[in-house]
Formats: sequence, C-alpha cells, structure tokens
Amino acid sequence: MVYDNIVLIGFMGSGKTSVGKILARKLYKDFVDVDTVIEAEQGCSIAEIFENQGEEYFRSLEQKCINELTQKKGQVIATGGGVPIYSTISDKSLIVYIEADFDVIVERLNVRERAKRPLFNDEKKAKALFDARIDTYKELATFSVDANQKIPVFIHVIVDYILDKRVL
Ligand code: S3P
Repeated sequence: MVYDNIVLIGFMGSGKTSVGKILARKLYKDFVDVDTVIEAEQGCSIAEIFENQGEEYFRSLEQKCINELTQKKGQVIATGGGVPIYSTISDKSLIVYIEADFDVIVERLNVRERAKRPLFNDEKKAKALFDARIDTYKELATFSVDANQKIPVFIHVIVDYILDKRVL
C-alpha cells in the first residue's frame, strides 16, 4: 500500500498539532492543520464559527477542508477531534491515532486552550464525548501510539513505523 498523506487523529488536547509539526520536520513533509486552514479561510476562530454559524456548518467546513487537503500528497495533516466522527478521510491516508488518556488531556489543557474549544467548556460533557469517540478513533487508525508521555518519549515510535511504510 502506498499512502498519499499521514493523517493524525485523536481527541482534543491529545497533541496532534505539536506531534504533527515535529513529525513533518523529521520526515521532510509539509505540515497542515485542518483547524488552522479553516480559521484562515473563514477569517475567524473555530469558537466564533461554532457561535455564529453552529456546529453543523463547522462540520461541513471540516469535510470540505479534509477533501481538499487529501487531493495533495506528502503532507502530515493534523485534524480536529471531530474529523474521524463527522468526515470521511481518504483511504489513501496513513491514519495515526494519537492516543492519550482523558486525565492526561485534562492536565494538558489550560484555561486558554479550553476557551478555544467550544466542546471542552464542560469537563463532564467532554469526558462523555471522549468515551463515545475512542472506539471510532481506534477502528479508523492504521496505527495507534501511546501519547500519554511527553512527545520526545514517543515520537520515534511513530517515525519508525512510518519509515517502514511507503508514504508519498
Ligand atoms: C473539535 C476539536 C477541535 C476543533 C473543534 C471541534 C472536536 O480541534 O476542531 O473545537 O469536535 O473534537 P482539536 O482536536 O485540535 O482540539
């Protein structure tokens, strides 16, 4: 199997963006982040899109964005936590699940980081969302990595796995 792109999935705050930037550098690939692309195209923040146009509209933007990004090749693509749930990801993608426990995520997300994420306002609701989503993340993943420790501890596990595969 030859993959076009590496797509990182996982719950909010699991570290997809930070991992993606390092991974792209190590593998000499371009890095793109779905949320950042949407914000740039819409000229406003994800929180503002949720507030003004609603979640359904945001989900349609995500699908459009991931479709457009996966037309190209050779990228590391960090997705928002809802992409695997609401969007279809090209089957030519090598999908890596950045798997962190909910407690670890809670510790990582400070007040500022939570404010950017409308679905993390309420920790109890976020936990319910986490529980409801993890099976889908696992099923969709080509490969899962334990991301409960700091990135330098596990990044080589992803790099080694990918170097063994053919990614354009
Ligand atoms: C969401 C995750 C967020 C962002 C939006 C919705 C979700 O991205 O796309 O707030 O449904 O899990 P991160 O996973 O980068 O926080």
